[in-house]
Amino acid sequence: MKLEKIKKIFIDFFISKKHTFVPSSSLVAKNDPTIMFANSGMVQFKNIFLGIEKPKYKRITSIQRCIRVGGKHNDLENVGYTSKHHTFFEMLGNWSFGDYFKYKTLKWSWELLTKIYKLSEDKLLITIHKNDEESYEIWTNKIGISKKKIFLINNNSDNFWQMANTGPCGPCSEIFYEYKKNNNIVTINELNNNSNYIEIWNNVFLEFNKKINKKTNQIILKKLPLKCVDTGMGLERLATILQNVKNNYEIDLFKKIIIYIAKKINFKDTKNISLKIISDHLRASSFLIMDGILPNNNGHGYILRKIIRRAIIYGYKIGKKNIFFYKLVPIIIKEMSLSYPKLIKKKKKIQEIIKKEEILFKKTIKNGLKIFKKITKKEKIITGKTAFILHDTYGLNINLIIELCNIYNIKINIKEFNNEMKKQKNKYKNF
Ligand code: ALA
Repeated sequence: MKLEKIKKIFIDFFISKKHTFVPSSSLVAKNDPTIMFANSGMVQFKNIFLGIEKPKYKRITSIQRCIRVGGKHNDLENVGYTSKHHTFFEMLGNWSFGDYFKYKTLKWSWELLTKIYKLSEDKLLITIHKNDEESYEIWTNKIGISKKKIFLINNNSDNFWQMANTGPCGPCSEIFYEYKKNNNIVTINELNNNSNYIEIWNNVFLEFNKKINKKTNQIILKKLPLKCVDTGMGLERLATILQNVKNNYEIDLFKKIIIYIAKKINFKDTKNISLKIISDHLRASSFLIMDGILPNNNGHGYILRKIIRRAIIYGYKIGKKNIFFYKLVPIIIKEMSLSYPKLIKKKKKIQEIIKKEEILFKKTIKNGLKIFKKITKKEKIITGKTAFILHDTYGLNINLIIELCNIYNIKINIKEFNNEMKKQKNKYKNF
């Protein structure tokens, strides 16, 4: 099933359940000191959850463009190395603002997955927060799921969702897909880290506003005015299952992007990690620029710069020493402008900005790599002191040093590097 069809089925399903479709917001979270980017579909509705704005509709469905780099949810370092992480991705979701609650959303997510998308019930596993007796009761007695398939999760990082360090939050129930049937007992660690399992849908019951007392650091959970539902299903992950592949980078969209890149840069190994990273970062950079971000050294712009530069480094790794990245933008426009027509209008700008950044970065990387290679010829681990010299004397950004270490399989002592940075700050404190 093609991506466009997966999206349409999702939206049509929730419209049939009396939801109103609301378009994705910009990637840039506006006027919110707790978060830089829309990291999930609920960000654009934050003020409704908090009771600051009145909802226009009580039931909403949407497909949100998201970025998970920087902040509480950060997947940058995983991209390319796992089968399921992206910097930019699309999230399918449904929301209730003080309307339906746990029963309806859990029932509908089960119905959509098993009856409409036709996933085998056998292959789905459920997690719930250990204190959430109501969800347990719904899954077991009302929906009829075997107790063996339900995992009660003891920790708040897995089954208590929060958008940022403060703000709307609540317990959640996740649905996992099991690729190959395993009759042994599965642990939560395996669910999260074994590639036989993939989390596809998260149903969050937003009931609290988390605040932190600045003086005492005490966490305060205040009840939200309305009991709300916030769900999120990663489109690319769902597509792997419906398209019968095991890696997000093998779904129809990424296949096309990667084949295009491979042709354009004349590199044949389409399974190479660099191509996955370049394809992901190309999409993220194009959308960030479409949404008005420019690469620079602060905030949003710094994240964009980091993403573009990471793609260039991985291009360098496979021999792309001349500027190449901006030339790849047309494939994103071609494949994604049906859902995001604004990409067409911004194509020229996206290419110009990426090209400028590539030219700027080329000088740094050329010099940096020379010094890096000279040093690592002798040392297989970069001590904090060496990293500090690379940073302080030769002007290499620490993220670049870390990426180079990743690429060339060199260990680095970050703790020691941070200590060196602290020492330097103290040294100059009184000037
Ligand atoms: N906001 C929830 C998440 O992203 C649904 O997992």
